[in-house]
Amino acid sequence: MAETGGARLLVASNRGPLSFKERDDGSVEASRGGGGLVSGLMSMGGGDDIVWVCAALSDGDRLAARSAPGGRLDRDGHDTDGTAVRMLDIDPATFHRAYNVVANSTLWFVHHLLFATPTVPVFDASFRRAWGSYQSYNGAFAAALAEDAAPGARVLIQDYHLTLAARMLRELRPDLRIAHFTHTPWAPPEYFRLLPDAVARETLLGMLGADHAGFHSMRWAQAFSSCCVEVLGATCEDKPDGTIDVSFHGHTTELGIHPLGVDAESLLERASQDDVNTRYTAIREALGNRQAIVRVDRTELSKNIGRGLLAYTELLRRYPEWLGKVVHIASAYPSRHDLPAYREYTGQVQRLAADIENEFGTDDWRPVILHVTDDYARSLALYRAGDVLLCNPLRDGMNLVAKEVPVLSERGCAVVLSVEAGAADELGADSLLVNPFDVSGTADALDAALRMPAAERRARTDRMAKVASRLPPVQWLADQVAALD
Ligand code: F6P
Repeated sequence: MAETGGARLLVASNRGPLSFKERDDGSVEASRGGGGLVSGLMSMGGGDDIVWVCAALSDGDRLAARSAPGGRLDRDGHDTDGTAVRMLDIDPATFHRAYNVVANSTLWFVHHLLFATPTVPVFDASFRRAWGSYQSYNGAFAAALAEDAAPGARVLIQDYHLTLAARMLRELRPDLRIAHFTHTPWAPPEYFRLLPDAVARETLLGMLGADHAGFHSMRWAQAFSSCCVEVLGATCEDKPDGTIDVSFHGHTTELGIHPLGVDAESLLERASQDDVNTRYTAIREALGNRQAIVRVDRTELSKNIGRGLLAYTELLRRYPEWLGKVVHIASAYPSRHDLPAYREYTGQVQRLAADIENEFGTDDWRPVILHVTDDYARSLALYRAGDVLLCNPLRDGMNLVAKEVPVLSERGCAVVLSVEAGAADELGADSLLVNPFDVSGTADALDAALRMPAAERRARTDRMAKVASRLPPVQWLADQVAALD
């Protein structure tokens, strides 16, 4: 329990705000993560009044968590900006099965509709064992939250890693007010039913342990409520304020839509620093009069980078007037390399980029530049420099890149956006919407984006920037706390 008698607000997420690497001398080196949750929560400060519970993800993290009293990094000299951070040292094999096997290879695939069903998934004894680990991992979070929460405290649980934690916590501490937020899409019932019956039921029941369940888009909330109706037999009611009440066995969970936006001020401030300026100047100088089609993604199967490269190939074949006049700068930085499918995907993306270079490259024109290492400053420089953004995920909870680019764009940037991204709800009117599977349609949209007159590009970008900054992280968090009152 926190020294003051418990925290009044707690956040739980798999990945926390700090990560650690072990140095040769056995000490650890900390680095700060980015993202909306980090900036939103850190800006709330709060001392022991706010506790962030997260998991140790690596050996370095485990070392840091073990040496901190009760896993409290803030009490071990680490800079957490005044927020109490408790890092859970979960047994590595349990963590691996919960995170890699269940969360990332099963639930992520279900919600993004990623399975090639003739061969996967296979739910056998080894999956049952992994599910047991996922239960233990969720149980460890619930126990830590129950221990650290003041009477009547508010708890915000994040994402598909922690679908069981709300119910487990309610059983331990019925006095708490609990919210869950899903950052991914939610699968429609017929796809969700790929999961073994008991797993599907337990997942939904776990989420319904919350008083409030948040989603980025009404589409995902409706898919969730349909799963509750079809799998559990729950009842649902659409409310006039846009929320949905899901009731099951005497408890009601309110579903709310909270489309996370961008903190424009801090993003603009970060993007105007020297490291970004230097990269921006180099990129624009190298481009000369050529237009840049940019993309920035994790190398993530759902981001559809491969079809993006195929669409660019088709653009150059069918619209040869663009030969020598455009460069596709694709930043695909490493992600989830513990999973073989992700390593193979990176290789496939590299081969597609090499094919483009071989077919179209000349002595003075490189049609495609692919970056496969992470460089945040370079990503921000690309956001500023792009003439066209290609953002074509197969399915995406929100996609913040689509919101950040209009905020940072220097010259106005036409956005080619997948209809399957949550961001399409708000940006659809001013972007060029595409079906992410339709490579020819995406090539046509790229052509239209490249041809868009500068004034129109500017006007659309300005409108998108305004929409994108409507719900910055601090307000997004505050709304979810308010929804619990
Ligand atoms: O999209 C949901 C999300 O939780 C993102 O917030 C995050 O980028 C990702 O999934 C999780 O990534 P990782 O497995 O690297 O923590």
